[in-house]
Amino acid sequence: MKIVFVGYMGSGKTTIGKLLAKKLKISFLDLDEVIEERLEDSISNIFNGKGEIFFRKKEHEYLNDVLSQKNNFILSTGGGTPCYSGNMDTMLELADYVFYLKISIPGLVKRLILEKEHRPLIKNIDDGDLPEFIGKHLFERNNFYLKANHIIECDNKDPEALVSEIQGLLA
Ligand code: S3P
Repeated sequence: MKIVFVGYMGSGKTTIGKLLAKKLKISFLDLDEVIEERLEDSISNIFNGKGEIFFRKKEHEYLNDVLSQKNNFILSTGGGTPCYSGNMDTMLELADYVFYLKISIPGLVKRLILEKEHRPLIKNIDDGDLPEFIGKHLFERNNFYLKANHIIECDNKDPEALVSEIQGLLA
């Protein structure tokens, strides 16, 4: 079974993906980690040194590599992954399930204010401007996220409850 999680930065893709992988006893992959390992550099350095377009090309290439594997896995993607280079359609075609972890703008702001530093797209945005930035960004990205097979409303639910909800949707 191939399961993919998509959603905005801070939506819990990695936390939920790891927990579900443990429950289902299948391997877990994080696309950001795959990129960091293969390029032997951090996401922040890649963005700073080589720029976002280079990052998006590598993200697309490695996503295709991962999705073409024969093995079962759970993959958490980066917040922008579904929005470039036809990636969302590829995921829908090659994975058995694509889940969108949906969180409200206030919920995202609350989480992301605490962990802006290692996120190149928001680290230079003042805390006070984050709600507007996230709101606009999400508005652009929603068209892609909403193509997922299942939309999971994540506000005010703990990870264990979310994992049970997702497990209930697997055939
Ligand atoms: C990005 C999200 C990040 C990472 C990169 C770009 C985005 O992943 O891929 O910083 O465009 O939203 P997370 O969603 O895991 O933070």
